[in-house]
Amino acid sequence: FHVDTDASEAEKGAYPYYMLKEIDEQPGVMRNLIEHYIAEDGSIKIDEKLLAALNQAQRLYIVAAGTSYHAGLVGKELFERLTNIPTEVHVASEFAYNPPLLAEHPFFIFLTQSGETADSRQVLAQVNEWDYPSLTITNVANSTLSREATHTLLLYAGPEIAVASTKAYTGQIALEAILAKAMGQKKGIKKATEFDVAKELTFVANGMQALVDGKAQIEEIAKDVLATTRNAFYIGRSIDYDIAQEAALKLKEVSYVQTEGFASGELKHGTIALIEKDTPVIAIITDEKTAKHTRSNTQEVLARGARVIYIASRQLATAGDQIILPEVHPLLTPLLAIIPCQLLAYYTSLQRGYDVDKPRNLAKSVTVE
Ligand code: G6P
Repeated sequence: FHVDTDASEAEKGAYPYYMLKEIDEQPGVMRNLIEHYIAEDGSIKIDEKLLAALNQAQRLYIVAAGTSYHAGLVGKELFERLTNIPTEVHVASEFAYNPPLLAEHPFFIFLTQSGETADSRQVLAQVNEWDYPSLTITNVANSTLSREATHTLLLYAGPEIAVASTKAYTGQIALEAILAKAMGQKKGIKKATEFDVAKELTFVANGMQALVDGKAQIEEIAKDVLATTRNAFYIGRSIDYDIAQEAALKLKEVSYVQTEGFASGELKHGTIALIEKDTPVIAIITDEKTAKHTRSNTQEVLARGARVIYIASRQLATAGDQIILPEVHPLLTPLLAIIPCQLLAYYTSLQRGYDVDKPRNLAKSVTVE
């Protein structure tokens, strides 16, 4: 694995760990993407040939692993809502041996921070054999997946050193938003033409800044609720379920707390049996359509003794919610909701005395199948 960037850029500086530095860098990642991909007049600087190829597709197939897969889940929402093109998201290691029935004109999008993940490379090799068009969205220029795909878009997020991915996740989602906007606008889809992506991502960057500036509050919650627990749950519906899955991965991989990201409506079909007195349940509430339903699911776990922490968008917040997110475009709420979750993972790991940058059994880039 190679990090194709200036090493001095990756200095920790005053930070105790890379993970905290990389969490803090996320507002800057948003601004970099705006600068690289959106012109002063609002036009989007993405190759016309790529946009045309994407818009010719009957169906988009996002293929990725780990955190990048979770960025793909949010990508599905963005592509479907802004371009009207049906989109599937696949775990690379599953797709490799059990590909789905493909549409006649598929287009493949590989999401990969490193550009080197063996499972994703294997799928791309197969896609190239089939002779289907592809795009790699990656943080590493000239990485293998970048070289082998038809097209590449770079994240310009700077080197990500901590094993647990943070800024690559938000960078991938922001770039998916920019791409979906460009595609949908070309097709004349009203939702896309009305979506002022530069303005909305600027709001996101400001919101992220407010959240990282408020990290002391998150540290307290980590100490209070997660420092000694054996297990935890993140719950949400719709786009909030997408966030819950990434939030759970973040917590489990750096703190070793067994954590599930669950669709809150599905809890009652089995998993609620695991709720005991003081089990932490963190509810993500940013989706207007499902907010009420997720809240009623939190009542069900409260009745079984759970300790519920609410992470809610300002406009959906109610008295007593602990973490309030600044208001942003409804399609971009994952970019804010994940920040306190990353911080909860970080502080829980520190509380437990672990090396948060190098969790046991994990590698930054997995180049074996
Ligand atoms: C490893 C890392 C994860 C990462 C995954 C996919 O498992 O530990 O943080 O999400 O690989 O990596 P990629 O570079 O393809 O995004």
